[in-house]
Amino acid sequence: MDVFEAIESRRSIRDYDRNKPVSKETVEKIVNAARWAPTAGNRQPIEVIAVSNQEVREKLASLSGYAPYLKDSPVALVVCVNQNKYTKGYENARQFYTPMDASAAIMNMMLAAHGLGLGTCWDSVLDKKAIRELLKIPEHVEPFSILALGYPSKRPETPPRRRPLEEMIHWETY
Ligand SMILES: Cc1cc2nc3c(=O)[nH]c(=O)nc-3n(C[C@H](O)[C@H](O)[C@H](O)COP(=O)(O)O)c2cc1C
Repeated sequence: MDVFEAIESRRSIRDYDRNKPVSKETVEKIVNAARWAPTAGNRQPIEVIAVSNQEVREKLASLSGYAPYLKDSPVALVVCVNQNKYTKGYENARQFYTPMDASAAIMNMMLAAHGLGLGTCWDSVLDKKAIRELLKIPEHVEPFSILALGYPSKRPETPPRRRPLEEMIHWETY
């Protein structure tokens, strides 16, 4: 799939085929796309917890923003940022780089999944403490977002509206 086609045709998927599992190999391919995302200073702080256990996914659904579909998506990818990786001049800017590094990795995984015919939906982590306990995440690793992953059972018929390009692009100054 052409890169522009992939970018424009990707949609957030909220309906998943519960009966179509995602193979470990496919999960690895998708997480590998995150490995190639840019990171500040190439510190590579991203870590991903792949959860397929139904009970755990249901708990994750209750701890994230709005993600009831985590109950149906066969996999939940919990994207974390390892704060100990911010070394050599990056120690004091952890909070600054964390959301940027995580978001770049998430976007790569969303496009990789889409390219393989799978769907994803990005959910914010609300209760970090509870997710830490649930998944045994150590203190220096920050759970950032959850990505639902699976084969879509339904795709949105029309994409959510985008602002016109002329409205968002500014040349030279705002
Ligand atoms: C940081 C972030 C958090 C999001 N959180 C949720 C969420 O909690 N639940 C949800 O259903 N979608 C969530 N989304 C998906 C957006 O609603 C979606 O990307 C947007 O409506 C555009 O639709 P599209 O992804 O199909 O183009 C989130 C997206 C981002 C980037």
